[in-house]
Amino acid sequence: MVSLHVNGKDYRLDVPGDSSLLWVLRDHLGLMGTKFGCGIGECGSCTVHVDGKAERSCTLTVEEVEGKKITTIEGLPDNHPVKRAWIKEQVVQCGYCQPGVIMQVAALLDGRSNPNPQEIIESMDDVICRCGTYARMKRGIETAIRIMREEGQGS
Ligand code: FES
Ligand code: FES
Repeated sequence: MVSLHVNGKDYRLDVPGDSSLLWVLRDHLGLMGTKFGCGIGECGSCTVHVDGKAERSCTLTVEEVEGKKITTIEGLPDNHPVKRAWIKEQVVQCGYCQPGVIMQVAALLDGRSNPNPQEIIESMDDVICRCGTYARMKRGIETAIRIMREEGQGS
């Protein structure tokens, strides 16, 4: 038995401890927003938050994240500045990579609306977008920062 805390809920799951977090999220919890891309920690499409940090769920086992707070794209509120910015800037093309991108950016901007340009580029570089939406991602990040500043979120 493994205990997981995902999107504010507690789960007890009858899965081996070395199961990949990605597949447990998808296959056992039905949280299909977290995508499988490479399976080796390179593409970022499986990115979730673990205790507030962006982590690749394909390279984590469920026993490694027991007792930690896991958030998937489904757990990020719809009024989150990054989700709103993504809609405003129409960042998405096919959409496959975007849950991972959004979780990566949301972790970067968590509580701070002043990342430096290098951090923004590194954040985008961390996720592979086959559609090449990087210019729109950059606009999305800038818009999310603007929303946060206008609403007095972050520092
Ligand atoms: S599927 Fe996890 S990094 Fe590519
Ligand atoms: S939007 Fe298609 S892979 Fe990124």
